[in-house]
Amino acid sequence: MKDIENREDIKLLVDTFYDKVQKNNKLDYFFNTVAQLDWESHLPKMYDFWETILFHKAVYKGNPMKKHIALHQLATLKKENFDTWLVLFGATVDELFKGKLAEQIKIRATSIATAIQLNTVYQKN
Ligand code: HEM
Repeated sequence: MKDIENREDIKLLVDTFYDKVQKNNKLDYFFNTVAQLDWESHLPKMYDFWETILFHKAVYKGNPMKKHIALHQLATLKKENFDTWLVLFGATVDELFKGKLAEQIKIRATSIATAIQLNTVYQKN
């Protein structure tokens, strides 16, 4: 198994992960019912997001914190939802890749999940 090396690898990771998210009955609700997400525009944003984080390419322009706060106001994001998100993400990374960046992306995901939780927990519904 190889490490995450380029955008194509990120694409495979992101597509595989959101397939799992859409099949997960605790998470798909936020994406498909609450946000009524257009997957064709969401997925490329996620490729950009991770490419920016892993390879320091400034391709992602957006404010994920703002998006999740808005989402949380529509449907409460609970700790268990973040835990499920992280378990699925970690499992996807581990089934596809092995190496330094594979470890790094899981750590980054965990710290961003923590940051989102800190920012949403103080929001009043
Ligand atoms: C409970 C866990 C989570 C749920 C249910 C969730 C759900 C969502 C939804 C529904 C959107 C689309 C918002 C919209 O376009 O209106 C979104 C966007 C996004 N999420 Fe999450 N998310 C979760 C955790 C995370 C984590 C841990 C990360 C990062 C590691 C993350 C990164 C992003 C990014 C980068 C976007 C795109 C924002 C943009 O449009 O620029 N999410 N999320």
